[in-house]
Amino acid sequence: MTAAARTLPWSWYSDPEILRLEQERIFRRAWQYVGHTGELERPGDRFPAWAGDVPVAVVRGRAGELRAFLNVCRHRGSILVAGPGRRESIQCPYHAWTYGLDGSLLAAPRSEREPGLDLEGLALRPVQVGAWGPFVFVNPELDAPPLEDALGELPALATAHGLDVDALRFRERRHSSLAANWKLALENYLECYHCPVAHRGFSALVNVDPEDYGLEERPGLWSQFGRGRDGAGACQFHLLWPTFRLNVFPGSTNASVGPLRPDGPGRCTGFLDYFFGEGVEEEAAGELLALDDEIGREDRALVEAAQLGVDSGLLEHGHLLPASERLIAGFQEHLSLALDRGGLREAKGGG
Ligand code: FES
Ligand SMILES: [Fe+2]
Repeated sequence: MTAAARTLPWSWYSDPEILRLEQERIFRRAWQYVGHTGELERPGDRFPAWAGDVPVAVVRGRAGELRAFLNVCRHRGSILVAGPGRRESIQCPYHAWTYGLDGSLLAAPRSEREPGLDLEGLALRPVQVGAWGPFVFVNPELDAPPLEDALGELPALATAHGLDVDALRFRERRHSSLAANWKLALENYLECYHCPVAHRGFSALVNVDPEDYGLEERPGLWSQFGRGRDGAGACQFHLLWPTFRLNVFPGSTNASVGPLRPDGPGRCTGFLDYFFGEGVEEEAAGELLALDDEIGREDRALVEAAQLGVDSGLLEHGHLLPASERLIAGFQEHLSLALDRGGLREAKGGG
């Protein structure tokens, strides 16, 4: 028998210092999903986004190239792009400094009347940007390896399990917010041990018996594979480090993807972009959205209740099932290494 593994210390789900480390060592350095190419069809199209607590503006450049910048004015720091739109330039709402789509500073009102003012060389701080099919990602760290490296085996795996990302058409975005630490939300996502207990609708659709529900772990990528009951087809659910989830349900061509971002130690917000294949019936799309809303409501109750317990302060950690919850163990190990806390075993104090 294997002893139940320890979870991360429960203090890590409310400690502001842990969140500060996570922002610095995870969210400022990792590739994160921000939106889809349908929002960036023509030169000048742009939208604001977040990579953790880093504000980012994603832009379609003059020659059709994807660009991303820190969404912060070089003058006195205002957020530049407040909402989606299309314009020839990026103009700050505060004092109207105007930047080109390549980030260079083009004009600053009254600058010609200010002797000794030198704006030469001021430009928006670039942010790395890349796309996989319609999915757009950014990384604030300019020295980080390219998106392809971060995606690893995910594109090949998704394809092998029946997803063609180029066949997807965006339908809608749904936002969510949870009174729980971002890690609790993702750990809940990484196990289907709770599915028979808490997700009746989902368990009626997908065979969630352990022998028929595959869990696979790769560096920075945790995947679950199932089959619909009644021959409804395959499903796959992936978490790509740190917060990108890709969900494919059984049935007509579909996928939903989205990030999560901490909103303080005990809160997180996120969204899911829902895509369907061309010609998927309205009714089928509506049913899937309704089912996913139901799953979302069920998960919210579970995760928020777990946050209350984890915050109680009288227990130091929880326990994990070695098989059914091994993706959580992998995620927690990855996280503690990213925080440079010497690996999970050491962080947990052994035993
Ligand atoms: S802060 Fe942007 S123009 Fe002043
Ligand atoms: Fe769930």
